[in-house]
Amino acid sequence: MEVKTSLLDNMIGVGDMVLLEPLSEDSFLGNLKKRFDHSEIYTYIGSVVISMNPYRSLPIYTPEKVEEYRNRNFYELSPHIYALADEAYRSLRDQDKDQCILITGESGAGKTEASKLVMSYVAAVCGKGHEVNKVKEQLLQSNPVLEAFGNAKTVRNDNSSRFGKYMDIEFDFKGDPLGGVISNYLLEKSRVVKQPRGERNFHVFYQLLSGASDDTLRKLKLDRDFSKYNYLSLDSAVVSGLDDAANFRTVRNAMQIVGFMEDEVQSVLELVAAVLKLGNIEFKPESRCNGTDESRVKDKNDLKEMCELLGMEQSVLERAFSYRTVEAKMEKVSTTLNVAQAYYARDALAKNLYSRLFSWLVTRINESIQAQTKARHKVMGVLDIYGFEIFENGDNSFEQFIINYCNEKLQQIFIELTLREEQEEYVREGIEWTNIEYFNNAIICDLIENNQNGILAMLDEECLRPGTVTDETFLDKLNTICADHQHFESRLNKNSKFLNDHSLPHNCFRIQHYAGKVLYRVEGFVDKNNDLLYRDLSQAMYKANHSLIKQLFPEGNPAKVNLKRPPTAGFQFRASVGTLMRNLQTKNPNYIRCIKPNDKKASHIFTDSLVRHQVRYLGLMENVRVRRAGYAFRQPYEPCLERYKMLCKRTWPHWKGPAREGVEVLMADLQIPAEEISYGRSKIFIRNPRTLFFLEEKRKQCLQDLATLIQKIYRGWKCRTHFLLMKKSQIVVAAWYRRYAQQKTYRNIKSATTVVQSYTRGWQARKLLRELKYQKRCEEAVTTIAAFWHGTQVRREYRKFFRANAGKKIYDFTIQRIIQKYFLGLKSSMPSMSPIDRKWPARPYGFLDGVHTELRKIFHHWRCKKYRDQFTEEKKAVYEEKLEASEIFKDKKALYPSSVSQPFKGDYLEISKNPKYQKLNSAVDEKVLLADVVNKINRANGKGTPRIFLLTKKNFVLADQKTGQVKASIPLPDVTSMSVSTQKDGFFALKLKEGSASAVKGDFLLSSEHLIEIITKLHRIGATAADREKLKVDISDEFLVQFKQDKVCVKFIQSSPKNGNSVSCKRKNNRLLEVSVPTSP
Ligand SMILES: Nc1ncnc2c1ncn2[C@@H]1O[C@H](COP(=O)(O)OP(=O)(O)O)[C@@H](O)[C@H]1O
Ligand SMILES: [Mg+2]
Repeated sequence: MEVKTSLLDNMIGVGDMVLLEPLSEDSFLGNLKKRFDHSEIYTYIGSVVISMNPYRSLPIYTPEKVEEYRNRNFYELSPHIYALADEAYRSLRDQDKDQCILITGESGAGKTEASKLVMSYVAAVCGKGHEVNKVKEQLLQSNPVLEAFGNAKTVRNDNSSRFGKYMDIEFDFKGDPLGGVISNYLLEKSRVVKQPRGERNFHVFYQLLSGASDDTLRKLKLDRDFSKYNYLSLDSAVVSGLDDAANFRTVRNAMQIVGFMEDEVQSVLELVAAVLKLGNIEFKPESRCNGTDESRVKDKNDLKEMCELLGMEQSVLERAFSYRTVEAKMEKVSTTLNVAQAYYARDALAKNLYSRLFSWLVTRINESIQAQTKARHKVMGVLDIYGFEIFENGDNSFEQFIINYCNEKLQQIFIELTLREEQEEYVREGIEWTNIEYFNNAIICDLIENNQNGILAMLDEECLRPGTVTDETFLDKLNTICADHQHFESRLNKNSKFLNDHSLPHNCFRIQHYAGKVLYRVEGFVDKNNDLLYRDLSQAMYKANHSLIKQLFPEGNPAKVNLKRPPTAGFQFRASVGTLMRNLQTKNPNYIRCIKPNDKKASHIFTDSLVRHQVRYLGLMENVRVRRAGYAFRQPYEPCLERYKMLCKRTWPHWKGPAREGVEVLMADLQIPAEEISYGRSKIFIRNPRTLFFLEEKRKQCLQDLATLIQKIYRGWKCRTHFLLMKKSQIVVAAWYRRYAQQKTYRNIKSATTVVQSYTRGWQARKLLRELKYQKRCEEAVTTIAAFWHGTQVRREYRKFFRANAGKKIYDFTIQRIIQKYFLGLKSSMPSMSPIDRKWPARPYGFLDGVHTELRKIFHHWRCKKYRDQFTEEKKAVYEEKLEASEIFKDKKALYPSSVSQPFKGDYLEISKNPKYQKLNSAVDEKVLLADVVNKINRANGKGTPRIFLLTKKNFVLADQKTGQVKASIPLPDVTSMSVSTQKDGFFALKLKEGSASAVKGDFLLSSEHLIEIITKLHRIGATAADREKLKVDISDEFLVQFKQDKVCVKFIQSSPKNGNSVSCKRKNNRLLEVSVPTSP
């Protein structure tokens, strides 16, 4: 919903002066001041906007503000220039009404700024697009160009427009800008040649000198130094906050955008330069023979340069400064000019040059910005013109007179249009027209502009009159003609009432303008009205070879010599004001009244007297009065009802019927007196602001109550909804919580139940088990008891049938049977008769254990006896020998096991049968028990020598193997012992009794393959001989052998089979003989 606001909301003071109660100048000023102090620089008088210059930038011109004011009703928001611009633009666009915006105010009051704000607002809200933007840009850029040439720094305003400007902006039916037309009024050209103290010439001079490039300046024959130019006053050449150089670039750029050609710009600059040069031309008097002084150019350099710039002949111009041609009745009379006249001519030329250049610029800009289409268009005119100008010290001159005349006209148009509008509205609304009393200034306008006896007409008359014409003669004329006019005052008036008025000097007249009395000094009126430029000068200018100059001085064309005087300045101005007024009258006016709060260009200072003065001469009080003459306030029914409906129960909150009836009911209810209000067709008219404020006050109170009510209801609603929401949430939370709690208890109960159940079932099961087990045991016990009982019964019954020993008999019989069976089995499984058979049947019963072993032993003995019984005597002896060998060597010598299977042959050499040993056989007388070849070990080196070894019952013999020659024969009793090793070797030592004859050569160390047999036999012989002891056999790996005197130790060591398989014997040293025996694999 769009928020409906009103101007009346949040008002500081009153936003619309029409509503001021009571209305007086003081309250008016008080209201302005109050608003100004709160930075509210805009105030309305109805639809007129009063604008106070804030002299500082306020944040109220932002794009957001533009949006805020866009398409809003005028009174909807607080007063603003945008509201006025919007209203004007919308009624132009939507209602097809041409508009004009009239901006007035004293210099420095903010008119130009206001006109720019209006233009920028319109530019912001109107259509967009490439073409439209270009037009907008051109329209906006015309400002800097005109400001450079038409504005100057004055004491009141650093950027004061020194011309009046009216600009028509043309729009198409959609409201898009098409182009524009600018009109200029009354450029203050006197400024070109002379500036008051503290003021400057037009900006363009300073901009050119500080901003142009060195090159440009050289071309224009200018110097950057301001002080070199007479026309540039020095005291305020530099203005703080104004960057002339930068502005020059802005102006050049703007000229380019507006559409100036490069050569046109150049020409314009040349003219500006020419004006500066012109100012430097000085004159000196030269006496003539007739006693008069004639002027001569002092230093011709500037003249020369100026002529070069403008393409003129120097002599022509020089002459024009010295002579003046007056034409009268086809006759040319040439008179000389004195120095003062020459200066006057020079300045007149400079002023004319500059003002014509300015007019040309305006025309040129118009050419560029004029609408391209011929289609019908709507127009919005913006008038930025001086407001009333009153210099307090009575320094008002022709310019002020002209300006004030213009303002008088504007006031008239304001009155006319306002009243007309008012009247039209009354008619439209069907309200009876009551005559409005107001001051009509038509009479003052008439005083000035009346064709017969108006002041301007008389001035023209005076100027054209032949004879001596001075300002005084003009004043005299006024004194006679306007004497009776109510608004004209003069000391020398026929009307004697001013005779003693000392505030009215003799050379002055005073006009009672609608805005106040103004005292004009008559001096200069005639001259200024004449605005004379000597024809010689214009002709000289026309001769210049410079296209622009030629255009500017068309009257210099000798072909068109016009003897008629050119129109006077007053006449021209009256004509243009007339055109303007006619133009404005066709348009819907919108007023902006600018007020300057202080003379110091300072923000926040409100000088009461200054503002009061402006309020007076701007006729603002008049404005208010005219506005209030009828009804002070009016408003369409709908917004009125909307705004005040809360004041009556019947219209609040909704009124069903038509708005008008609603308002009527409302007003009746509020008991507003009937004369205070009128009901139009669509609007209600309120006569007095008091009534409106009464309504507003009521509304304010009511709004507070309503606000409280709304607040109350809203709070109630808010709390209720909040409560309901909480309640709903609480239920949800509770439900969830309860569910959760129930689930938890259920789970607990369930698990508890399961536990209890399991215990119970366990207990029941165990009980059942116990019962079953008990039952089973009972059954078993019963069975056992029954079995025993039956057994006892049976035994008791059958006891009488058994004998007392029947058991023993059965037992014996059984045993007999078992033994019988045992023997029979043994018979059939007897082992072989071989004594070495170790087999024997297994024992069938444990109790036969002893018998079984005994039987085996008996059988074995029997079997051995049987075996022995079959032996012969020799065989028996052989076995005895073998038995003895076993007793000696078994488990003692390693050689023994290999000898068991070898039969002891005894005579290996078959000595008795072999003839070779015949002699040897005969050498022994006893039967040979053993004959064999042995190795006799050499004592020195351990090497063996083969010898035949013979053994008999009484001795043993060693003989040479080849020859059979007996080497030694030793009787057995000389042998004391025998030594052998534990190993597999065949070495043996025969130790001889010490001291015996045989022992001379020492003991014998021999080796034989049949060692076991030899030793056994030697041992048997010893055993059988009754006269001796048995020969001792030493079995040891180390023994001593007596060799001659020495005892040598024979040591047996085991060697690895690698070193050969044979036994080797080595003499290690004197006392050691080492025999190495290979270990059997
Ligand atoms: N609305 C405004 N906001 C801020 N400053 C302003 C405003 N109007 C005027 N001024 C200041 O006042 C100076 C004079 O304003 P200007 O429009 O040139 O006066 P005028 O055209 O009436 O002589 C401006 O240069 C500017 O500094
Ligand atoms: Mg201005």
